[in-house]
Amino acid sequence: MTGIDRPRRLRRTPALRRLVAETTLEPRHLVLPMFVADGLAEAREISSMPGVYQHSLDSLRKAAVEAVEAGVGGLMLFGVPLAGDKDAVGSKAVDPEGILNRGLRALAAEVGDATVIMADTCLDEFTDHGHCGVVAADGSVDNDATVDRYVAMALAQAETGADLLGTSGMMDGQVGAIRAGLDAAGHLDTAILAYAAKYASAFYGPFREAVASSLQGDRRTYQQDPANRVESLRELELDLAEGADIVMVKPAMSYLDILRDVADRATVPVAAYQISGEYAMITAAAERGWIDRRGAILESLTGIRRAGADIVLTYWATEASHWLR
Ligand code: PBG
Repeated sequence: MTGIDRPRRLRRTPALRRLVAETTLEPRHLVLPMFVADGLAEAREISSMPGVYQHSLDSLRKAAVEAVEAGVGGLMLFGVPLAGDKDAVGSKAVDPEGILNRGLRALAAEVGDATVIMADTCLDEFTDHGHCGVVAADGSVDNDATVDRYVAMALAQAETGADLLGTSGMMDGQVGAIRAGLDAAGHLDTAILAYAAKYASAFYGPFREAVASSLQGDRRTYQQDPANRVESLRELELDLAEGADIVMVKPAMSYLDILRDVADRATVPVAAYQISGEYAMITAAAERGWIDRRGAILESLTGIRRAGADIVLTYWATEASHWLR
């Protein structure tokens, strides 16, 4: 056959494929989410996320150094307080001696000059009811009372030297209030990674084990409905207007259309979070020999980049960075 267009010409050799590849995946694009737990003598593996650990302060430092040496773009820290330290308003989230703030200081001291340190600015790990905020008498999550707590939490985190605060709670007005609070306290350079579009997802399951969540019920009155697309553009506009420095879409793989929409419109860098359930699915299938582990991981990350993510949060950040160097 002559006279037909032959796209296969450019796929013929590895060198040709490399020359024309549209999407890149580099260690600097990857951010490692990490968990630090109070009262641990050594790291404890999370059973639904094989290969991911709740860290002690010591093992956190070591894993952070490994990640930075592998070339990751940043670290995102979550804290797991002692069960007995949880209360209705998440006091340990605000306490400078709470485990998350201690962990952030440890990271700043160990690798603060070499990487970007991010803090999860949300209350769910610290509340005894497991919600991301303060619960009102009628059982609903009180938006404005919660935002006040977030501002206090953000100030404590800014004091640790964290570079970026990840506002993951999905309260209305949280970005603007935190920005104003940071500015008033002189933290003009502490940046905000706004979870602009965060959906109420079944794929968060393993994370709830990772942070020993106390949640009964769900987060559907504050996280978004998976059925909605346009709503994410409204969330994006609000977060940009309120001063977000980076915006995020979460989860990633079931929301690649949202990621593309956001990337097409955002005037700031865009991140996506490949969450715990995404990690667990690929890990479980690979353990059974049903898919090729490395191939599936790299393909999933490339797909998230192709859909528009400048930055990808992934529990494989360190390992994938080794492969990509
Ligand atoms: C809540 C929060 C969640 C995750 C990070 N922060 C989810 C939730 O329980 O609603 C999920 C991350 C993951 O699943 O990997 N502040």
